[in-house]
Amino acid sequence: MKLDDDISILKEKYQTFKNSKKQFDLTRGRPSSEQLDLSNNLETIMKGDFFQDKIDTRNYGLLEGLPSARKLASWVLNSDPANIFVNGTSSLTLLGHYLQSLIFHGDGNNVPWKDIRKVSFLCLVPGYDRHFSMLEKLDIKMIPVPLMGDGPDLDLIENLLETDETIRGIICVPKHSNPTGDIFSVEKIKALANIKKDNFKVIFDNAYAVHDFDKSKKLPDIEKIFIEHDSHDSLVMLGSTSKISLAGSGLAFMSLSPNGMKNFIDYFSKFSLGSDKVNQARHARIFNSKKALTEHMSNLAKIIKPKFDLVQEKLNTLPKGIANWTKPTGGYFVSFDSLTGRASKIHSLCQDAGLKLTPLGATFPYGKDLENKNIRIAPTQVELGELSKAMDLFCLCVLLAEGLNRE
Ligand SMILES: Cc1ncc(COP(=O)(O)O)c(C=O)c1O
Repeated sequence: MKLDDDISILKEKYQTFKNSKKQFDLTRGRPSSEQLDLSNNLETIMKGDFFQDKIDTRNYGLLEGLPSARKLASWVLNSDPANIFVNGTSSLTLLGHYLQSLIFHGDGNNVPWKDIRKVSFLCLVPGYDRHFSMLEKLDIKMIPVPLMGDGPDLDLIENLLETDETIRGIICVPKHSNPTGDIFSVEKIKALANIKKDNFKVIFDNAYAVHDFDKSKKLPDIEKIFIEHDSHDSLVMLGSTSKISLAGSGLAFMSLSPNGMKNFIDYFSKFSLGSDKVNQARHARIFNSKKALTEHMSNLAKIIKPKFDLVQEKLNTLPKGIANWTKPTGGYFVSFDSLTGRASKIHSLCQDAGLKLTPLGATFPYGKDLENKNIRIAPTQVELGELSKAMDLFCLCVLLAEGLNRE
């Protein structure tokens, strides 16, 4: 595609798409049915044997999860199994419980956040919309901090921490970040571990920890670094098998320091009598070794990677200088940046021709992309043929928005 194509030709092509009345959806990072099929053996694996780790999984108890499920989670989060809490199916829900425990109960060392006048969080941008909507609901003020390709802008963080005493935490996705694909460098993790501030939490939502397409940079050992910096009590790591086994029926987990764990269990035990150990046993049996987990992830990558390759191939047809986008080595998203001020036009052109995208601005706190340029592309759920057409339409809308602007 070329920008000097006659605008009337672009308009014609666009009208043809519109007339076809096809609907495409690149809104959310959902696994495809083909991916989910790889976990179908979860249905039959129990075979009437409900004992796992010599525990009757059918009964109440073990709020922190089965030992073998904690071990599985420890491979994903790269954490000591003793520091792991496995409960429920959604890491977002666990995060919500954890934040509420800090608000109402405190972390055992400091006053509950409800007793502080104002709590603010550093939010890396572009970032995950559900983090932002959760923090907003909890009345936590969000301060955007840009990602740089290998983690956050450290100078800005230093500045903000010096000038704003309401800041109590930072939320990040340290590997294949949603949506930019950033993998945090050791320097960035060390800097975060070095933040010495009372009542401060560094939250790593490591949803894509083991989701490499093939070769990918290794994430530094976060837990080890925090322990070495004497900051284990400020560390929170989260993950789930939503994008490993079944989305919504997998396992969610969190890693905390021994202090953090004791305190969280003191809070959470008032709301639940145990965890779903049957589902934990299912997962522990299927992913019964690091090797089994790695093999499963590489089978998933065989399905996912061609879709990401196709997205790159299509975006590469755009003329130079009118857009930038990320080239992730894993995860679920591509982050697309138009020229400043163009995203809303591209988005509405897509929408009007039947291509649904993540709502405009969703990748920023309060839905405010001040430069009006970021669009998240989520290619996993649709099949390749559909994706190809959806990306043709997307690229056409990028060109048309640019052409209309120059008209
Ligand atoms: C960064 C991140 N965290 C969490 C989730 C949701 O995870 P869960 O299903 O465990 O709540 C997603 C899903 O897209 C995500 O991208």
